[in-house]
Amino acid sequence: MGERIYHTPNLERLLTYSPELHVLDTPEAVDRFTADQLIGQIQRKPNSVLTLPTGATPMGMYGLTIEAASNGLDVSGVTVFNLDEYWPLPEGHPASYARFMDENFFDHVSIPATQRHIPNCHAASPHAEADRYEALLRQRQVDLAILGIGPGDTCHVGFNEKKSGRRSRTRYVELDPQTRDANAQYFPDSSEMPRGAITQGVGNILEATRVVLVAKGQGKARGIQRTIQGPIGPDAPASYLRFHPNVTFIVDREAASLLQ
Ligand code: GLP
Repeated sequence: MGERIYHTPNLERLLTYSPELHVLDTPEAVDRFTADQLIGQIQRKPNSVLTLPTGATPMGMYGLTIEAASNGLDVSGVTVFNLDEYWPLPEGHPASYARFMDENFFDHVSIPATQRHIPNCHAASPHAEADRYEALLRQRQVDLAILGIGPGDTCHVGFNEKKSGRRSRTRYVELDPQTRDANAQYFPDSSEMPRGAITQGVGNILEATRVVLVAKGQGKARGIQRTIQGPIGPDAPASYLRFHPNVTFIVDREAASLLQ
């Protein structure tokens, strides 16, 4: 049976919560506001468990968090579970999310290697690797999950492409052609781009105590409109976040431009 689509406005209102939406003037203001969510979480709870994203969107957030850490924020107790990783890729591939996290965050802060988790892009079996990651995640309660959103109207979170169910778990997925087009720029030779990835499921993400979704730029406007104001369902996996009682959308004016 396919995933149920919730499209009756009254029923939807009963089942969902009002997400907090922050529309900020500039991408830089989004970076500052998002970094403050992350920094505030670590200050309140130094042993926070975090789910963190990759991509262009969170680069500013990582930069500002590195700055806070060099000014005394203690991040040594934090545990990180990354959202997703390509599969297959050779170990250390420049476009792997493991490399992204090292270069943009981990190499600059003192989070011990044993507290950083990401699916293994060169595991022999992506299914066994997804099961290993799922088992690790199940041992911990994630305090804060920070997410980007996929390109165009994919409305993906992590690599939960269209047809992902609300209760989906960590698994191997095939990438949407729109995602492959948008992400090909990160591969020196686009033929190296894998067809698949290992991602936390929508169900994993919804289990975090708090979820923050961040979007910047015109290219995210359609996805943000669809996610926040369209019907909730597998055509727009990010729309499932509206079932979460503590979700915050942080967007700039361009990404908010199609909201009515
Ligand atoms: C990838 C990742 C997502 C990320 C998205 C947006 O597809 N799997 O987790 O949110 O890209 O990336 P960007 O921030 O570069 O737009």
